[in-house]
This record gives sequence, structure tokens and C-alpha cells, in this order.
Amino acid sequence: MAGKIVVTGGAGYIGSHTVVALHQKGYDLVVIDNLVNSSEVMLDMIAKITGQRPAFEKLDLCDESGVRSFFTKYDDIKGVIHFAALKAVGESVEYPLRYYHNNLVSLVNLLRSMEEFGVRDLVFSSSCTVYGQPDQLPVNEQAPVKKAESPYGNTKQISEEIIEETVRSSSIRAISLRYFNPIGAHESGLIGELPLGVPNNLVPFITQTAIGKLPKLRVFGDDYNTPDGTCIRDYIDVNDLAGAHVVAIERMLREKNDAPYEVFNLGTGKGYSVMETIKTFEKVTGVNLNYEITGRRAGDIEQVWADTKYANLKLGWKAEKELDEMLKTAWRWEKNLAAGILDK
Ligand code: NAD
Ligand code: UFG
Repeated sequence: MAGKIVVTGGAGYIGSHTVVALHQKGYDLVVIDNLVNSSEVMLDMIAKITGQRPAFEKLDLCDESGVRSFFTKYDDIKGVIHFAALKAVGESVEYPLRYYHNNLVSLVNLLRSMEEFGVRDLVFSSSCTVYGQPDQLPVNEQAPVKKAESPYGNTKQISEEIIEETVRSSSIRAISLRYFNPIGAHESGLIGELPLGVPNNLVPFITQTAIGKLPKLRVFGDDYNTPDGTCIRDYIDVNDLAGAHVVAIERMLREKNDAPYEVFNLGTGKGYSVMETIKTFEKVTGVNLNYEITGRRAGDIEQVWADTKYANLKLGWKAEKELDEMLKTAWRWEKNLAAGILDK
């Protein structure tokens, strides 16, 4: 297909896996990233997998004239997959303006240029965080959006509104994808999640503890109203997630979308507790984790998993990977990191 796909945040965790998936489908693409939470070496790692280093523009999407120059330079852009954002929930509570500025100004700049340069199709990274603690499980796309628990979560809600209103008043079409909990790494062990500093999320915390980088994993609460008392999440493999982005952009490029703006859940439909995740990790890797049960973490949702029917039906997409496989690839990646894979 002629024309390029832009992947913003393409040096990051989910973006890099999506770049690989797009490349494997034969798409020509260009990555925009300011590397605030990633490293350019990830593009070299992508090249090891695909045989081709993606075109790359180091650019802060908050720089409006920079974004316009980008669209002037690349005049054959077909669609945009927009991953670029800051994503640390706790940090967003501490520095809300940093989050509102980065995540919203970048989106507005992108939409403005898309309008101006006649680029129609946008896929946006949203999050199941917009549902808060849903009243019904599994949660489907019709569930109400609840008041955000953090400035980060609020940027996702506001971004969805900005996109929906822009679509209503322009020729832009968009799909918001609400991810559940992305984990795992590419099966090659060459790309994966690269948390800066101490990770916030469970699986990088598990793998860093297992490798000895962190002394102990804390399990945040075992007194929830769940079978084993620990929180339940819908962990989805990052490669499955990447595949859904290819399907979503193709849906619009091929005029298959039912409406100019659509929203889909991306999950497996299965929930696992923190303890089940730990036990599965120990089983598939043979590593005993040093962990202790501590108090609850502020703002945590008790349990959430996706109703995937709508995405399965409309996108013709289904998450395939099971939890044990996701944890195996996450572990392979952690071991490769420890072996200095990025330093070579
Ligand atoms: P990531 O931090 O690995 O990737 C985001 C990338 O965007 C980074 O490479 C960063 O350098 C870049 N970036 C940030 N601000 C930018 C700016 N102003 N200009 C240019 N580049 C910028 O994060 P990820 O886990 O790959 O997440 C991708 C998207 O998915 C984000 O929008 C995130 O909010 C969303 N999301 C992630 C999760 C998750 O658990 N990982 C869950 C739900 C939604
Ligand atoms: N957990 C621990 N110990 C840890 C880290 C996490 O017990 O060291 C627990 C949490 O309490 C939670 C579960 O593991 O019960 C999952 O926690 P994560 O931080 O991995 O994931 P969350 O569901 O809390 O948050 C993630 C993203 C957010 C996003 C949210 C909803 O980090 O950005 O999903 O999409 F907003």
C-alpha cells in the first residue's frame, strides 16, 4: 500500500512492538519520539528483528511548528498511530501540569496538523483506567467512564473527548483502543519494556526482583474481595496488542469502520490475581520470588477484566497468548537486559 504510517512513541514499549508488526505486514512507516522515556537503541533492536531500521524523527510533539514541519517533510502520510504520552500514574499525581501539558498539547498539535495536511486516520492509545472500578464485570465499551483517579487517567479521558469532538467537526476518523494490562516482550528477546528507575507495574517488578535488581516484591494488599484477596487484572500480551493496532488502522484505511469514531477494549477477557501471576511466573521460570504482602496501594482498582466481544467481532481480532507465555517472554527480555543486550 502506498503511503506511510506514522508511529508516535515508536521507540517505547508498545510502539516498538507495533513497529515490528507493521513492518511484517509490509507497511512503510516513520517513528516520531522525543526519547523522554525510551532510547534510540530500541530502533537498532527493531532492525535486528525486521532487517530494517525504521525511519526516525526525534521530535517533541508539544513543539507545534516541529510537528507542522514533520507533516511538510513527509507528504505521503496515510495514518497515525499515537502512542506518545507520559504514563506513570504516581508521577502524574506529583506533577499534574507536566502530564496535562505533554499528553494533551501533543495530541492537539497532532490533530491540527492532520487536519491541515489532510491526514484522516488516527489510532489512539487509551486505557481501561477510564472505567475506574466498573459496576459490572467483564466491562464492555458501553460502561460509564468514571471520574479519573489520577491526572494521567484524566489525560486519557480528556484525550478521548478531544478526539471525538474533532472527528465530529472534521474529516478525521479515529479509533481509541482501551488497553487492559500490557505485559510480555517480543519472542526474540530483542525488544521489551524498559522502565526508567524503579518500575511501577507488577510484571517488570517481578522480573527485576527475580534477576536480583530489586530486593523484594511487595504485594499490595491481600484483603480485597477476590478469591485469594489480591487484585485481579486482565494481562494482555504486547504482541497481541501490537497486532490490534495494525487491524485498527487498516479498518479505517479500507473504509471498514462503522462510524467515524470507534472505541474498543483490548484485553483477553480473563482476569488473574497478583498471587496467581506470581505463582505462574515461578512455575514457568523455576525462579522463587522473594515477596511479602504489604498494605494496599492508594488508588488501586480491586478487579477488572475486559469484555472482548465487540473487538473480537468488529476488528476480527482476538488476543492469543496465555499468561505463562507472556511471563516467559518478559523473563527472557529481563535476562537479556541483564546480559547487556542493549550495550552491544
Ligand atoms: P512508553 O513510555 O514505553 O512509550 C511512550 C513513548 O512516547 C516513549 O518512547 C516516549 O519517549 C514518547 N513520548 C512521550 N511524550 C512524547 C512527546 N511529547 N513527543 C514525542 N514522544 C513522546 O509507554 P508505553 O507503555 O509504550 O505506552 C504507550 C501508550 O499506551 C501511552 O499513551 C500509554 O499511556 C498507553 N497505555 C499504556 C499502558 C501500559 O500499561 N503500558 C496501559 C494503557 C495505556
Ligand atoms: N502490584 C503489586 N506490587 C507491585 C506492583 C503492582 O502488588 O510492585 C499490584 C497492583 O497493586 C495491582 C496489580 O499488581 O493490583 C497490577 O498493577 P500494575 O501497576 O501493573 O497495573 P495497574 O492495573 O495498577 O495499572 C496499569 C497501568 C496504568 C493504567 C492502568 C489501567 O500502569 O497506567 O493499568 O489501564 F492506568
